[in-house]
Amino acid sequence: MTQEKSEVSKFAAEAGRKVEYAKGLEGVILTESSLSFVDGLAGKLIYRGVPIQELAEYSTFEETTYFLMFGEFPKKDELEKFDQKLKQNRILPPELLNMIKMFPKTAHPMEALRTGVSILGMLDTNKEDISRETNIERAIQLIAKFATIVAAFNRHRNGKDFVAPNLNFNHAKNFLYMLRGKEPSELEAKAMDVGFILHADHEMNASTLSCRVVVSSLSDIYSAVTAGVGSLKGPLHGGANEEVMKMLGEIGGVDKTEAWIKDALSNKKKISGFGHRVYKYYDPRAAILKSYAEKFAEVRKDMKEWLEMAKLIEKIMIETLGEAKGIYPNVDFYSGLIYSAMDIPMDLFTPIFAISRITGWTCQILEQLVDNRIYRPRAIYIGSIDAHYVPMDKR
Ligand code: COA
Repeated sequence: MTQEKSEVSKFAAEAGRKVEYAKGLEGVILTESSLSFVDGLAGKLIYRGVPIQELAEYSTFEETTYFLMFGEFPKKDELEKFDQKLKQNRILPPELLNMIKMFPKTAHPMEALRTGVSILGMLDTNKEDISRETNIERAIQLIAKFATIVAAFNRHRNGKDFVAPNLNFNHAKNFLYMLRGKEPSELEAKAMDVGFILHADHEMNASTLSCRVVVSSLSDIYSAVTAGVGSLKGPLHGGANEEVMKMLGEIGGVDKTEAWIKDALSNKKKISGFGHRVYKYYDPRAAILKSYAEKFAEVRKDMKEWLEMAKLIEKIMIETLGEAKGIYPNVDFYSGLIYSAMDIPMDLFTPIFAISRITGWTCQILEQLVDNRIYRPRAIYIGSIDAHYVPMDKR
């Protein structure tokens, strides 16, 4: 290659030269999508044009999933058929159940979920068929089975027998039932359903991007979803609600809250459950979850102090950083409180996020495959451009 045709000068950073690029892909447009959209300045989230508030109030996780997947609200018989399909697919193959029994009890439930998805991929006997119809069937299976994998692993690590899915319960209620082996209260089932709706999709976040990148090489849907689970696991993404509860525990009471937060901020600590790459205003999902946290505090007196602490943190954060830096509560701030009110262990918070987000991941994967182009960006090369091999005796 001649020097004139070389790209080195374009991509190599000259000494001292500051080259502009979008670190963390901030603001970069990667694709067209009609699934969901975040208006970060207005604090709005829509799924296919419909405000999240309306879906949380009037829809169900099953109906929202159908709507995201097929682009229209289902008619009564379509919803019934879809619901039946999800129910039939809740049961895990015996091979996977036997594997879960061998998972180390010390594993994080996100690790169990990640491995569970991989095993489902290995068990797919129809791998050559990558048609859209078959991928939709796979998506429905994954959506149905995620809740069962998480519940089964939690039973296993606590030395308890698996609880078979109850086909009379909806997805959210059945998940809580499989987790505990007893029927949840109406409030618990409703709050879980609303939580599932709110987390179902969120345009171009890290885990969704991971799914899209993997499937863009025409790899399989299981590999893509495995990457999504791995990405969601991180504390800067789905792991933040776990961190919120740890923080509340560390603070230890309403009277200590103000001093703790102010001290943390003065030490440049990031407060979990606050801030967002896109939302520079109140995350609408946080407002809905806060209303459920308030409902739980009415029936669970022990939740009252947690909620008071959370509200005080919110007040201090908005006063200090709201206007100044666009830092407001995000979806993770109140979700942990709700799950704690249901006595769900902290390390299941992110898997619960995944049980819902599998809807978004699979819909985004299906959308990616309609007009696919493999992801292949570039990096600014800052290494040496004229180095040579160094023989062993000269190193
Ligand atoms: N607490 C205190 N300050 C925060 C903050 C938080 N949670 N989030 C951001 N900031 C501040 C940063 O310190 C930075 O200040 P500076 O300009 O003085 O350096 C500024 O706001 C921008 O933050 P930055 O980290 O560059 O934003 P980002 O877009 O890269 O990160 C998050 C977004 C979500 C990763 C970040 O807000 C965060 O770490 N939040 C806590 C974890 C969390 O709740 N994650 C769940 C997201 S749904």
